[in-house]
Amino acid sequence: MVEEGAVFSALHKILLLFCLAEFASARCHTMDRESLLKYLANHSVKSISGVHTFSEIDSTNSEAERLISNGIADVQLVIADAQSAGRGRRGRDWVSPSGSGLYLSLVYPFSVGTFGLQGLSLVTALSAHAAIRNLGVESLQLKWPNDLLVGNKKLSGILLELCDHSAQTWVVFGIGVNYKLTKDQRASIGRPAIDVSEVLSKPPSIEQLAAAITVELLRNIGEFISSGFSTFQSAWNSYDRYLEKDIVIQNGNSRKIGRHQGVDENGSLLLQTIDGLQRISGGELFPSVREAGG
Ligand code: BTN
Repeated sequence: MVEEGAVFSALHKILLLFCLAEFASARCHTMDRESLLKYLANHSVKSISGVHTFSEIDSTNSEAERLISNGIADVQLVIADAQSAGRGRRGRDWVSPSGSGLYLSLVYPFSVGTFGLQGLSLVTALSAHAAIRNLGVESLQLKWPNDLLVGNKKLSGILLELCDHSAQTWVVFGIGVNYKLTKDQRASIGRPAIDVSEVLSKPPSIEQLAAAITVELLRNIGEFISSGFSTFQSAWNSYDRYLEKDIVIQNGNSRKIGRHQGVDENGSLLLQTIDGLQRISGGELFPSVREAGG
């Protein structure tokens, strides 16, 4: 005969275990603003006039655009623990729950007409690449124009947006890095994804990761303003996952197939096709016709 008290105690234990499991899978993150500012200060970052942190926001890029419309005057950093409407390239969503990723936007003013956005997009990927490599991820590669990959899996995506306001062109550098995805989140992305916690036995904090990327990006924007993309060309080509591989570039309904010959001094992809060498300035790269949708 089983006593009523023993049954109650067993049920209680099961309930407790269930709650702990639920709690562990939620893994919320609260941005430690002080530690973020400390990391930035350690790198002597003086050029940011405002650091805006949120527990949840629609999209850090949208908040950056609101800051621009409200008339901010200088470089600003926006970071959120979670995004309810995170945006990816080509109208896709960017899955953005708390604790699963870094969601960061840097707002930077440029003089109108002084730059080519395409090169800047590659420079942003190179900045995130340098920061994450320095934190220990050695097998990190690039996929034109601005994805970071480990093997064939995506670790980080970048969305640059332009805003003209007060006779200036503002660039919003939106960067998302997978930090610790649950099984369900990974499945909902629908493409192979990897996260920082999977590739590093001792992952940095989200704050440390954010500061490291911001520092590299600010340094590289300065270099890009003074010298353009050409100084980044060889770095890009040495880390490009698909260099010398047969690839497909899809741009709307147009599809080009050829061998990837690296990027040129402006960041355009050089594609050797049966019609000759073509400079590609926009579109999405696929490793095969099948992956481009057949
Ligand atoms: C991609 O599709 O690869 C680009 C993803 C960019 C996601 C980042 S997360 C921070 C910023 N805010 C957004 O809404 N999107 C970018």
